[in-house]
Amino acid sequence: MGKGSGYGKVIMLGEHFVVHGVPGVVSAIDASTDAEVKKSTKLNIRDERKTSKGYGEEKRLQQIESIERMLTAMQLEPNLPLDIWIGGSLPGFSGLGASAASSVAIARAISEELGLNLPNEKINAVAYEGEKAYAGNPSGIDNTAATYGGLMWFKKNTTNNQDFVEKLYLKRPVEIVIGSTGKTANTKLMVEGVAERKKKNPQKYEPLFKQAENLVVAGRKALEDGDLKKVGALMNENHHILQELGVSSKELDLLVDMARKQGAFGAKLTGGGGGGCMVALTPGKEVQGKVASAFKTAGYEFLATKISVQF
Ligand code: MEV
Repeated sequence: MGKGSGYGKVIMLGEHFVVHGVPGVVSAIDASTDAEVKKSTKLNIRDERKTSKGYGEEKRLQQIESIERMLTAMQLEPNLPLDIWIGGSLPGFSGLGASAASSVAIARAISEELGLNLPNEKINAVAYEGEKAYAGNPSGIDNTAATYGGLMWFKKNTTNNQDFVEKLYLKRPVEIVIGSTGKTANTKLMVEGVAERKKKNPQKYEPLFKQAENLVVAGRKALEDGDLKKVGALMNENHHILQELGVSSKELDLLVDMARKQGAFGAKLTGGGGGGCMVALTPGKEVQGKVASAFKTAGYEFLATKISVQF
């Protein structure tokens, strides 16, 4: 039997814009998806992840397509019969990179089961192919975080596959709270919607892309300087331009407001939006606890964790 894992992630700044070549800041989180793979006589997927309602059904066809794409990328038969088990500590909530984490975990488990010995670089490239089933035209930020872990600066190269990835190191890990709306979102439709609206209305969207680029650059500096108030303010600005982009939702805005009211330094949606998750910057146990208990009282699932943890 082959085994593998992939990290979950939270995008602190730059989602959606990152698909179009704007840099992004992403951190792996201390929750991962695990996979076990065994050669078999037919394809059998046992998905035992904890998920939001409807996640498994919504993603089922994309999951099968993703596995076929990954097998093809490994120069194997796309219909290779395998027994695949998926589980682990990362919940299947939209926005946490659950699809990328599962792609990386499955790619690693297949590699081990078939003795392919694929290095991380190849696992990442294979998982990127798998991500296409879930996101259509993914930037690659999710699978890169899922493969390597840590906090990183990511810039997609929109003309070839040579993305620019740099690990970032903070003075200390910083507390965050990730809140889940409980709504499953279709990343592919969200990414396509942005591309279409940008094409139709460049006068409105191009300035937003410029604003996004500036704020991600400023956010990286503020993170590295330890100026967390500034990082929070930039996350708030980022949420605002994501609203302008049309990818937020009523529930995401509600959770973002709730977190800010409890003292979060900043809050924004994270990942594809349209449901899924938001992230609040909550340095120190006290603010983190306040935001977490507000979510709990209101009946929302959450993860209280840290960014920039080196695993
Ligand atoms: C999804 O986690 C992040 C998006 O920017 C898509 C991508 O970068 O592939 C929405």
